[in-house]
Parts: sequence; C-alpha cells; structure tokens
Amino acid sequence: MTVDARAQLCLVSFNEAWGSAWQPAPPARFRIAEAKSSFWGLAEGALGARMTRVATTHASASAEPTRRDFLFIATGAAGAVGLAATIWPFVSQMAPDAATIAAGAPVDFDLSHVAEGQIVKLFWRGKLIFVRHRTADEIKSAQNTDVASLRDPEADAARVKPGKDQWLVVYGNCTHLGCVPLGNEGAFHGWQCPCHGSVFDTSGRIRQGPAPINLPVPPYAFTSDKAIRIG
Ligand code: FES
Repeated sequence: MTVDARAQLCLVSFNEAWGSAWQPAPPARFRIAEAKSSFWGLAEGALGARMTRVATTHASASAEPTRRDFLFIATGAAGAVGLAATIWPFVSQMAPDAATIAAGAPVDFDLSHVAEGQIVKLFWRGKLIFVRHRTADEIKSAQNTDVASLRDPEADAARVKPGKDQWLVVYGNCTHLGCVPLGNEGAFHGWQCPCHGSVFDTSGRIRQGPAPINLPVPPYAFTSDKAIRIG
C-alpha cells in the first residue's frame, strides 16, 4: 500500500468514526433555535399583552369624559344659548306682526250661504269686497251688453270665472272717489253710488256718472264648487 492509499484510508476511517458523532449536531442547533423561538414567542406575547393593556388603557382614557371635557361642553352650550337669546329679539322684530299677517293673508269664503240675488260684503287687506250671487236675468243682462259701447270696455266673461257666471266678485268702493255704491240700485240694477251718482251694471261695469273705470275684480280662485279664496 502506498502512502497516498494509506492516507486516503485514514481519511475514510476518520469520517466513519466521527461522522456518526457529528450527526446529532443539527438536532442540537434545532433545539437552540426552538428555544430561541419559544423565548421570543413568550417575549412577543408578553409585549403584545403589554401593548394591548396600554392600548386598552389609552382607549378607555379617551372614551371616558374628563372634567375638562365636561367644562368645555357646558361652556359651549351656555354660549350657544346666550347667543340665541341675544339675537332672537332682532330676528323676531324682522318678522311681520300678527295684524300684518292677518291683513295680507288670503280670505276663504263659503258661498253656500249666499242666496241668489244676494250681495255680501267682506274685507280683504282692508279693502271692501262685494260677492254677488247673480240671478239668471242679471247674468243675461250683463252678457248681452254691447262691450264696444262701454266707457271701460270689458266682456262679462272676462270678469267672472269660467262656468261660474252666477258669481261676481268685485272691489266695493266707487272708482270715482271711493264711496260705497248701493246694490240693486240704478238704471242697470247693479250698483249706484250715493255720492255723485255713478251707476254700475250687474257686471260691475261703469255705465253712467263720473266714475272712470269699472269696479275692479280682486285676485281670487274657487277652492271648491261652493268656496273661494281671495288673495
Ligand atoms: S264717489 Fe262714487 S260717484 Fe263719486
């Protein structure tokens, strides 16, 4: 056997002899790593628990109102109430009073109590209003008038609501100087003014006397078959 061959044989024997001795090494390293892992696991667990406790403590601290929070909210609420109480008189002064609202508010009127041939007086915005329930003859007379012959030409149909020829609603003051004409008086059986003799027909149109224009028709509408709203 040569020297090289003997050396090779020694190396093989060494590996066979110590190879088994080196085999347990990996499990040993594994145990160390496992131990480390367990340690860090415990450490992480403890740290996590601590962080949870801190977070819980912090969350509960912010959720619970402190004395400072209470004072802050109470001061803000008192300030808001004081501000509202201060500006309310100025705001309420800007609103119209009850009398103004009542004077300008629409007026609902029930027609069912107005007999045929009757004239009812009511007020809207401080102005006198005539509501006249015209008879068939009064309607016919108003419709058959030659409009071109009138001082203030206006067809009867333009002064009443469609399909409601029996109802005439006009302002109740003479268009001359404001006196109150008398109903069912004069040559046309409409109104006659006692002051200077102006005569209006059954459509409220000026027919004789100094009044320059017809009795105006106020803004109104039928809210039902037997009710109107003026305004
Ligand atoms: S006020 Fe009616 S005619 Fe003069």
